[in-house]
Amino acid sequence: MKLWGGRFENQTEKAAFDFQSSIHVDRRLYREDILGSIAHAKTLNRCGVLTDEETVRVEATLNEILQDIDGGKLQIGFEHEDIHTFIEATLTDRIGELGKKIHTGRSRNDQVATDFRMYLGKEVDLLVELLKGLEESLLSIAEDNLDTILSGYTHMQKAQPLTLGHHLMAYFEMFRRDIERLLDAKKRIMIMPLGSGALAGTTFDLDREYTCQLLGFNDITYNSLDGVSDRDFAIELTSDLSIVMMHLSRFCEEIILWATGEFAYVEVDDGFSTGSSIMPQKKNPDVAELIRGKTGRVYGSNMTLLTVMKSLPLAYNKDMQEDKEAVFDAIDTVKACVDMFTGMIKTIRFNRDRMYEASEDGYTNATDLADYLVRKGVPFRETHEISGQIVQFALKGNRKLSEVSLEEFKGFSHLIEEDIYSEISVETCVNKRNLIGGPAREAVLRSIERGREFLNKEIGV
Ligand code: ARG
Repeated sequence: MKLWGGRFENQTEKAAFDFQSSIHVDRRLYREDILGSIAHAKTLNRCGVLTDEETVRVEATLNEILQDIDGGKLQIGFEHEDIHTFIEATLTDRIGELGKKIHTGRSRNDQVATDFRMYLGKEVDLLVELLKGLEESLLSIAEDNLDTILSGYTHMQKAQPLTLGHHLMAYFEMFRRDIERLLDAKKRIMIMPLGSGALAGTTFDLDREYTCQLLGFNDITYNSLDGVSDRDFAIELTSDLSIVMMHLSRFCEEIILWATGEFAYVEVDDGFSTGSSIMPQKKNPDVAELIRGKTGRVYGSNMTLLTVMKSLPLAYNKDMQEDKEAVFDAIDTVKACVDMFTGMIKTIRFNRDRMYEASEDGYTNATDLADYLVRKGVPFRETHEISGQIVQFALKGNRKLSEVSLEEFKGFSHLIEEDIYSEISVETCVNKRNLIGGPAREAVLRSIERGREFLNKEIGV
């Protein structure tokens, strides 16, 4: 079924019709299309195009169509060009001539932009809920691991001791920013283009602010050309989604690394692992790997949109129909990944002994040895040198700093006393770093509190 046969002499080639139709993708906008049509009917009523009686009938029938699709009684037929055509055709099937009035003062160009924005606004809310669930899990795992010491790394080399709680809270911060970014993007998604018509508005006196209010948008667009041809909101969303995936992917990379026999910091639960068809001993962190892999396709969606839009003259061009497939795929992928990741992290086992042991190797307390001497009045640049020399000395004997005798320490600096051993224990290294944002138990507890406040605050647009 098509809506535009009048000026054509010949039929569209079947293959060409199928090629240009989008119903297999935009069918998921049926609810938004129906709600948009109801609001449009009410607006047409206000300006005298539909009578009260007609409006009631249109609204009731559109609601029936919605129920029938929801309940599986009405199938969305692929012979229709797109979801807008299908809904209008079904309405006309059911109420005859009256159905043919619904498209007054409206174009599929402003209709699709409206539907798409409404749909994405809801999807953002669903994703934010999932991210908040992940954040809750991170807070509770962090709280259980305020004293779980592990080495932190820079350049993938052991650096300074941290706690697992502190490490997890770094990811909490990333996902907190993601939530904020998504909600900020939602402000620009929830702007209503309806009333822009095909490109030049309409001759009917539509009360756009009324339609906007009915549909729950924050505001309306203020230029009809821009209203139908803006896809910035979708580009912004896929960009924000790419950042979420980048964060998930970094986290997955660490889990994959930590699950290796060489690290053995974690064991991914059987429920989130798979085996090998040939190597009986294998247990692979597939879920984490796949999330890392799917990051590529979300970046791809962002690039698809940027590229589709880059040379389009105003206003609507059919190229823009490519937007939905990319955005739907990105949002579906991110939702599935956040959900899977949350399940995996909730069930993962941390090998605390192994983390602790590893934190004691690699001279992660060498900075603290230097700081010890700073407290005795030696300038840091000198204490750095002295600590480096002690590390070199210990390395030669294959010993830890805690295994260097007091006499040997004194050979490097007479200021070193018996308390050096407790001052450079990994516990002290962590707990002395009690400034805001540091890894000490108290500092991490404060971050967790701030995190809880963030999650409990009414956030949303
Ligand atoms: N299916 C189209 C899309 O997704 C709807 C708008 C079509 N408008 C048009 N004049 N062909 O972009």
